[in-house]
Amino acid sequence: MSKVKLDATRRVALDPGAPDLKALKSAARVLRGGGLVAFATETVYGLGADATQVEAVARIFEAKGRPSFNPLIVHVHDVASARACVADWPSVASRLAERFWPGPLTMVLPRSKLIPDIVTAGQETVGVRVPALPSALALIKTYGRPIAAPSANRSNAVSPTTAQHVLDDLEGRIEMVLDSGATALGLESTVLDLTGARPRLLRPGMIGVEALAALIGPIEFERPVDAAARSQRTAARVGPRSPGQLDVHYAPSTRCWRIERDNFDPAPMSSEARWALLTLGEPPLTLVGRPVAQVELGDPDGAAAKLYLVLRELDALALDAIVIVAPPDLPAWRAVRDRIERASQLWTKLGVGSETPAAS
Ligand code: TXA
Ligand code: MG
Repeated sequence: MSKVKLDATRRVALDPGAPDLKALKSAARVLRGGGLVAFATETVYGLGADATQVEAVARIFEAKGRPSFNPLIVHVHDVASARACVADWPSVASRLAERFWPGPLTMVLPRSKLIPDIVTAGQETVGVRVPALPSALALIKTYGRPIAAPSANRSNAVSPTTAQHVLDDLEGRIEMVLDSGATALGLESTVLDLTGARPRLLRPGMIGVEALAALIGPIEFERPVDAAARSQRTAARVGPRSPGQLDVHYAPSTRCWRIERDNFDPAPMSSEARWALLTLGEPPLTLVGRPVAQVELGDPDGAAAKLYLVLRELDALALDAIVIVAPPDLPAWRAVRDRIERASQLWTKLGVGSETPAAS
């Protein structure tokens, strides 16, 4: 499949709050030589390459098995370097940057000539973000050039929130992973498109659409399921505009079924199925059956921080199914719900008795 096959991936410890200059310089050397360095941000681990080196960026796509139509986010350390990546910097971008950068907000803007086609998947726009984790900022600053970095997982898998997750997916395919421990937020950044008539939410994240709208006025967004359905239709015709909207994008390999809490059926599983139950938000009153494993994530921030870790752990059990009780449809849960909706299929056969999710 891939030509990239390295002997080993170097795992280098890097304090997230007080990063060691020697480690940063050695990572910068790898980047300068066109190599790949995975690093922690406050959201998830990113897989970094020099955004201005076409060959290096090509290796990101190869290592991840990422389709070439899916554009990458460019990471910079301040507004001045963000502006060098874009052809237009509207006043709304200034206001957003002032409030939310460094932080988990990616702004999509018209790209400048600094950013090659391969980064933007041929689009005339580029996603830029200034991450908040001190070690990530220090890496970008030490390197001195923009770093293209998608999440450091194999394409379509769950994003990595630890260095071990990165190695589980990419060991031997990348030169280095900077291990700064588990990431704090656990879900990818909010992606906001500023190139249209109105700002448009492309991916919900921990910075909520309400907080953005309070600062810059109305924002267009679709319910994630509608967006996923629409973007799948579009993808079939022309390739997706923001492939993160595809609903296959963040899924474990075990089949995941989603149950809306209002519809929780007291007898949905057959006795043969080996399955896990993951509950987001308050547990429903009737929990039933005999799951092999059971996890409850009660509050939105805690659930965001642990969701991908839990999905990876449940996936490793090689069960017939993971049944997820979806969190309530409330703004505080929007980003978590979005990822759950992408990772799972709605179980519509609820209540038909002998049918099990694993069997269908
Ligand atoms: O928190 C994050 O954003 C993490 C960390 C590493 O910064 N990165 C991340 O990258 O999640 P990735 O590639 O897994 O997701 C980037 C998302 C995708 O949904 C992509 O389609 C969208 O941003 N995107 C990037 N550039 C875009 C552009 N020019 N136009 C529209 N969507 C874009
Ligand atoms: Mg990703």
